[in-house]
Amino acid sequence: MIYNNLGKSGLKISQLSLGTWLSIGDRMTDKEAERFLTLAYEHGVNFFDNAESYNNGLSELALGRLLKRLNWDRSSYLVSSKVFFGDGGTKPNQTGLSRKHVFECCHAAMKRMQVDYLDLYFCHRPDESTPIEETVWAMNHLIQQGKVLYWGTSEWSALEIMEAHKVAKQRNLIGPTMEQVQYNMFVRDKVESEFVQLFNTYGLGATTWSPLNSGVLTDKYLDKFPKETRLSFEGLDWLKERSYSLEKVNKARILNELAKEIGTTLPKMATAWCAKNPHVSSVILGASSINQLSENLDALNWITAITSEVEEKIEQILNNKPIQASV
Ligand SMILES: NC(=O)c1ccc[n+]([C@@H]2O[C@H](COP(=O)([O-])OP(=O)(O)OC[C@H]3O[C@@H](n4cnc5c(N)ncnc54)[C@H](OP(=O)(O)O)[C@@H]3O)[C@@H](O)[C@H]2O)c1
Repeated sequence: MIYNNLGKSGLKISQLSLGTWLSIGDRMTDKEAERFLTLAYEHGVNFFDNAESYNNGLSELALGRLLKRLNWDRSSYLVSSKVFFGDGGTKPNQTGLSRKHVFECCHAAMKRMQVDYLDLYFCHRPDESTPIEETVWAMNHLIQQGKVLYWGTSEWSALEIMEAHKVAKQRNLIGPTMEQVQYNMFVRDKVESEFVQLFNTYGLGATTWSPLNSGVLTDKYLDKFPKETRLSFEGLDWLKERSYSLEKVNKARILNELAKEIGTTLPKMATAWCAKNPHVSSVILGASSINQLSENLDALNWITAITSEVEEKIEQILNNKPIQASV
């Protein structure tokens, strides 16, 4: 495993990390999830990503149970939670980024995961109804209380992140250390263009999600639409809508051939491609089975196989290179 600094912070984060969405505390039994976590940890993964909204808190509960059982040294791993969507409650203040909800979500997440502090705490989305200054203060209070070590954002715009930094600077507070942003071969704009100035100016770290575009960057959709994948699950039509298209499948088909040409598989090549971007601190892996996780964890061994020649071939297939932001 390779460990990167999370942006300009001193925190070391594994280049590949493990997400829990739709898996731990959801579609997996605790027994499967324990094997899952163990495999990742034994490969050197030190960051386990979670959120209040993942299965309405059940994912955090399961992660807590398993971490307790596994009894790893607390200093050897990082856990996160994310605040915004709530854990199922629909009353006012049970969602969003007000001081009240940021505070209550943090305490609920610590309790569910049975930890004394969250290593990383993300604002899962921007909240137009709460002044950014209120959220910056709330995060800083939690840091001062020793309940959060690093705070960040997820799917905020560059402008919103800059505003948070501006407020933090004016008040001598700590601004967001990292952004959790979607990044894969099909979704590139934020990481490769919009955020470049933030990476360079503020030393923002990036923990990136959906490296396989919800499974479309594999060979499973090339010939048919399989029934047992997350894109066919009831209630996830919005995810299919967002992630799947014939154009993407056609590109995945050619990428799959290229992966074979260099001696690997498409999930490994697609994950390695994300990890190769120097602005990416950690690629958060998602997997539905131990075999998938095992395959994806091998991606780091394929970074060097993505030579400039291979990179150029990938660009030609994708034909979606973002316009570079001027820096
Ligand atoms: N901050 C945010 O807003 C946000 C949003 C989304 C995710 N996340 C985080 O990022 C993590 C990863 O995101 P993601 O789950 O969307 O990642 P992803 O890699 O794009 O998708 C994972 C899914 O792809 C399929 N897959 C994975 N490896 C495969 C392989 N080797 N062969 C075939 N199929 C494979 C599996 O689904 P099937 O087998 O069911 O097809 C798996 O569940 C999440 O767990 C979560 O922690 C954060």
